[in-house]
Amino acid sequence: MRHPVQVEVIQELISQLDAGVNFDAGGLRLSPADVYTSREHMAHERQVLFRDYPQVVGMSGDLPGPGTFLTNNDLGVPVLLTRGADGKVRAFLNSCRHRGPVIEHEKRGKRSRFSCRFHAWTYNNSGALIGVPMEDHFGDIDKACLGLIELPAAERYGFLVVHLDPDGVIDTDAVFEGLADDFESWGWDRYVLGTEQTVDMKMNWKLATDTFGETYHFKRLHKDTLAGNFHGDVLSYRSYARNHRMVLCKKGIDEMRGQPASGWNVVAGGFPVYFLFPNIVINVSERGIAVVRAYPDAEDPGRSISQIGYYFEPSDLAANPEAPAEFAAGFGRVVMEEDYALAVSTQTALNAGLQKTVILGRNEAPLHHYHNTFRKALGDGTPAPAAEPALSSGAQSRDRLVGQFKAAINALKQTRQIDSLGALLALHVTGIYPVYDAG
Ligand code: FES
Ligand SMILES: [Fe+2]
Repeated sequence: MRHPVQVEVIQELISQLDAGVNFDAGGLRLSPADVYTSREHMAHERQVLFRDYPQVVGMSGDLPGPGTFLTNNDLGVPVLLTRGADGKVRAFLNSCRHRGPVIEHEKRGKRSRFSCRFHAWTYNNSGALIGVPMEDHFGDIDKACLGLIELPAAERYGFLVVHLDPDGVIDTDAVFEGLADDFESWGWDRYVLGTEQTVDMKMNWKLATDTFGETYHFKRLHKDTLAGNFHGDVLSYRSYARNHRMVLCKKGIDEMRGQPASGWNVVAGGFPVYFLFPNIVINVSERGIAVVRAYPDAEDPGRSISQIGYYFEPSDLAANPEAPAEFAAGFGRVVMEEDYALAVSTQTALNAGLQKTVILGRNEAPLHHYHNTFRKALGDGTPAPAAEPALSSGAQSRDRLVGQFKAAINALKQTRQIDSLGALLALHVTGIYPVYDAG
């Protein structure tokens, strides 16, 4: 994140803290509960959101040098990724062209030739078939036509992207829309893998990503853990087409107030969380980044698998070799024992099918964005329905409006160096008002 943006974000959070307001989605929304429980819906999601759309399958640090490989089977399509001597990332269907078995069974490693254990047909890391035992016995084949089936692959900003359809197209500008500037400046292409976790729990994959979509629960669900280090109930939020960026507020922000903004570092007072459509959440800490990839199960809408990779700047890791274990223990424990455990209980209750909708609050804007984006991608372009007046009337209180006004004034004072009267006039004349279009 470039420094002027870091300053803007920190000022925004300070303004919200001072005014006692949160980012406002502009209205309550009702979100259908069957998106978490319906088998048909899940099958549609698996096809449209996962099989038909480019997938982030890891980070550059998962293929740390020429001759390395990585396998992936998160969506029922076995994939083999390689980094060639030329540094280029390639992806293939991890399936032998003879009779089809998976060729490489290791998760990752260094190997430039891949030999099928059935009859030892051998491929190089560009996918070419380079060896067929007893070729004269086997029969006449054109090896040049029998390389591994190649899948579209790209590497950008430190992310590895694959399309699971051999004829699919990866438009990296669209995949990273709105976040290119931030991602370019973080330098994640240099990061190395520290450790990883696989979390298999009884909750829909969207309940996993939902846990990264608001700070309303920090002082409640995380009262004995994160609440010690975070201010809940405030949030810097921007959505960009299918993606978004939210920045949570750490208590370190309190010390930044007295320091010149020129020296501010966003990760000292904030905790950026990026969402890449449809299932990637990148958590940015002072130590490194935790990249969560949430996947639907093939059969059960009430089960999902989260793959969490922890990546570090190499010199930071060298200076603190314990960082991966510490980061994974802290982050992983809170996610699994608090967020995901709560999500499992949500799944259990929604499975009963009696609660038809859940309510997305004005202070849960990222959830509005997730679910409206999914609906649109799945062919239902309408936003989640607005809540009944009985649900939303309380939110129209004078106090909330006054609070929002104060936050807007504070933000204007800080970013534009104008006084309160000027800010009031500006608000009045231009109609500037911190309301997010939840549609
Ligand atoms: S199936 Fe792979 S070599 Fe025969
Ligand atoms: Fe949480």
